[in-house]
Amino acid sequence: MNGTTEVLLSEEQLQTRIRELGRQIGQDYAGKEPLLVGVLKGAAMFLVDLIRAVDLPLAIDFMAVSSYGAATESSGVVRILKDLETPIEGRDVVLVEDIIDSGLTIAYVLDMLRRRGPASLKVCALLVKEKAVEAGLKADYVGFTIPDKFVVGYGLDFDEKYRNLPYLGVLAS
Ligand code: IMP
Ligand code: MG
Repeated sequence: MNGTTEVLLSEEQLQTRIRELGRQIGQDYAGKEPLLVGVLKGAAMFLVDLIRAVDLPLAIDFMAVSSYGAATESSGVVRILKDLETPIEGRDVVLVEDIIDSGLTIAYVLDMLRRRGPASLKVCALLVKEKAVEAGLKADYVGFTIPDKFVVGYGLDFDEKYRNLPYLGVLAS
């Protein structure tokens, strides 16, 4: 699989930054018991690495949404494939996303969660594409801002493949 991808962020770069994010969340939520919500499937790897760096009695849950199918651009239609198991009313929720590209997915999910009355709701995104930054989309915690290229690895797929790469790569087309 190495022949088809070029490394954008190495495993070490990812893990170092994720530990920093985890420590930051641990400090910011000191005295609280936040619920970290991973958006499947892309953020699964990020979430499990992230929580090991958060020194708090936290809880986790997952939801699954679909916006792309096998395409490489957002369709604008977000489907909820799996909802949360945890009621979030009154909870301090951190939505953990793999990547913010157009921002459509995160906007939809945030809106849906906000209506459930959490005590607080923040976003932790491992990756944010430059075009999302330019469009004014902000996450409370950001791992890396990356160029507007289609990336794979570290949980991110192209047609369900490449999720298992320990680094972030750019697909050579
Ligand atoms: P958005 O709705 O355009 O912000 O896209 C969000 C979702 O699309 C992410 O959670 C990813 O699952 C997927 N996605 C966006 N950009 C990429 C990419 O470069 N590689 C792989 N998946 C991506
Ligand atoms: Mg995908």
